[in-house]
Amino acid sequence: MSCNSSTASFQRRLEGKVALITGGAGGIGEVTARLFVQHGAKVVMADIQDAHGPAIVQELGEDNISYVHCDVTSDSDVGNAVDLAVSKYGKLDIMFNNAGISSPDLHIVTSNDERFKRVLDVNIFGGYLGSKHAARVMIPAKKGCILFTTSVFSVIAGADAGHAYVTSKHALVGLAKNLGVELGQFGIRVNCISPHGVATPMLTRPFGDLEKEKVEELIAMGSNLKGAVLEAEDVAQAALYLASEESKYVSGLNLIIDGGYSTTNPSMSNILKNLSSKV
Ligand SMILES: NC(=O)c1ccc[n+]([C@@H]2O[C@H](COP(=O)([O-])OP(=O)(O)OC[C@H]3O[C@@H](n4cnc5c(N)ncnc54)[C@H](O)[C@@H]3O)[C@@H](O)[C@H]2O)c1
Repeated sequence: MSCNSSTASFQRRLEGKVALITGGAGGIGEVTARLFVQHGAKVVMADIQDAHGPAIVQELGEDNISYVHCDVTSDSDVGNAVDLAVSKYGKLDIMFNNAGISSPDLHIVTSNDERFKRVLDVNIFGGYLGSKHAARVMIPAKKGCILFTTSVFSVIAGADAGHAYVTSKHALVGLAKNLGVELGQFGIRVNCISPHGVATPMLTRPFGDLEKEKVEELIAMGSNLKGAVLEAEDVAQAALYLASEESKYVSGLNLIIDGGYSTTNPSMSNILKNLSSKV
């Protein structure tokens, strides 16, 4: 899936498509927005980063990309973002429900109720609103693609991820599957992308803005697949595939990008390794 704009074989896989990306002005969303533009899409970034979003527009050009302030927990904000995509670029082909926040509370007894609700609000309700408003314009068009950034924590649990986050990501997969069932009759595909750890601000921030490379090293220590580092670009490439005609019959998929992490439990083999090093 490599793309090199300097070669004649470079194919713009989203030519003529219009995409809306929530959380599009940072982390995985920003990298995806840039890749989609490179592939010929018109992109609307919907985010709350009102300083960075417009700077990306200035860099890539307003013909290709727009920024709109949008808190995904606000029905009117999300509705406006969808309407902007349609009024500015003529339609909406791809809705990428990507905005998400992590949960700082790791212990159920001391968990803060309002923070728990906020994580569900942004991660689940935000995805629901994005899908609702996207479906409003996709159903009459009888085509469309709805994507969610879920997480490896949509299929496994993890004490380090927090209850709210794990709950939200499991729930999103259920929402995506149900949407795919309802919307299939209108030619709308619905899929999830579930990455393992990526050193975006979401992961560098909690470590006091630790360098990206250091966070990648930490992630690599616990990874299953060695010799490769998962980057935001890899998630963007998965989104590109699921948004393009190459996946025209793919719907209801949770594409897990974790190097096999969720397929195994290394606990026993670690115990045996420790044991054999001691005898
Ligand atoms: N980084 C990881 O390790 C990782 C792994 C698996 C899944 N994910 C998921 O990927 C998605 C993107 O995360 P990221 O790593 O790029 O994080 P990030 O924090 O780097 O970027 C998230 C973006 O979402 C925006 N955002 C936050 N709250 C919002 C709101 N209420 N309305 C609109 N925009 C909002 C932020 O401003 C930011 O631009 C999230 O859903 C996250 O759960 C991340």
